[in-house]
Amino acid sequence: ISLKKYNTFGIDAKAKLFASIDSESDLKAILKEYQNEPKFILGGGSNMLLTKDVELLVLHINLKGIAIEEETADHVFVTAQAGENWHQFVLWCIDQNFGGVENLSLIPGNVGTSPVQNIGAYGVELKDVFESCEAIEIETQESRTFTKDDCEFGYRESVFKTSEKGKYIITNVTFKLTKKEHVLKTEYGAIQNELAKNNIETPTIKSISNAVIAIRQSKLPDPNEIGNSGSFFKNPVIGKEAFEIFQSKHPETPFYQVSATEFKIPAGWLIEQSGFKGQRFGDAGVHKNQALVLVNYGNATGNEILELSRKIQNTVLEKFNISIEAEVNIV
Ligand code: EPU
Repeated sequence: ISLKKYNTFGIDAKAKLFASIDSESDLKAILKEYQNEPKFILGGGSNMLLTKDVELLVLHINLKGIAIEEETADHVFVTAQAGENWHQFVLWCIDQNFGGVENLSLIPGNVGTSPVQNIGAYGVELKDVFESCEAIEIETQESRTFTKDDCEFGYRESVFKTSEKGKYIITNVTFKLTKKEHVLKTEYGAIQNELAKNNIETPTIKSISNAVIAIRQSKLPDPNEIGNSGSFFKNPVIGKEAFEIFQSKHPETPFYQVSATEFKIPAGWLIEQSGFKGQRFGDAGVHKNQALVLVNYGNATGNEILELSRKIQNTVLEKFNISIEAEVNIV
């Protein structure tokens, strides 16, 4: 079967075998039955670039459900199943007046893959609301709970991308959200501008969500219209010395100070300065409003996108002596 509608880049790669799974018991059973068959775990398909047919058993994780587990005076613990669409989950939280995920509105993908790369936007990362997750170990079919510490979250990083890579399937995630006294994160200039534009003086989680949705819609392409995987690259983090040299040559560069010794440079800026913003090579391109996003205008192959990404990496390296690393998984 074609995986075109299962990946947001819209790449027409085929799966050798495919199963969509909507219960944990089915998942365990199929893992057991196909123990010796190499597998490929598919969630929302929003953070990968398929460069060839997938000659594996593709397991589409389609577990659904959202439940309130526990409440205290100030907090609520909510468990969402892995196959829930991330943004639908965010909207559900806002409807219930549960705070914490509003800055993460409109991020593509599913709940189950949100911890893998510790999704983040506008001053909030998944780890800020993450309580724990449950996962099935592929080899033994045993369930295991990962606490926040177990996950070793970092910038677009977790244990599921490092030491435990490929070993587990996350089946659900539990979030710790606020019921009242929401902690609103409005320090991003873009959010402030959007609130001001709408004359909002006392923002709510709903108005922040709306602001983030408006910002994202204004510069990020909708994967239903133009295939993409959000930021294709991570923002590079460089040491103080390298940063000072870089800044003396490019005083106009935007940057964020990550720690006393580390600085993050927006890859989008580096790519734009390298002349790629809005460029198109066949059906593979660099988005016109956000250079960090590579797009498929229709029938680009994974390899065409990959080739473009390498060209960008090489040009940025030559021009700025900075390596930028892909954020999406290249399959
Ligand atoms: N910039 C440019 N040209 C561009 C794009 C950006 O000069 O084409 C400059 C902007 O002017 C700004 C700076 O780069 O000064 C940062 O841009 P922006 O605020 O748009 O954020 P970003 O660094 O490009 C990151 C995340 C996004 C997240 C936003 C908002 C990464 C890899 N990306 O993007 O996450 O939505 O911040 O918090 O960290 C994603 O991971 O898929 C994603 C979209």
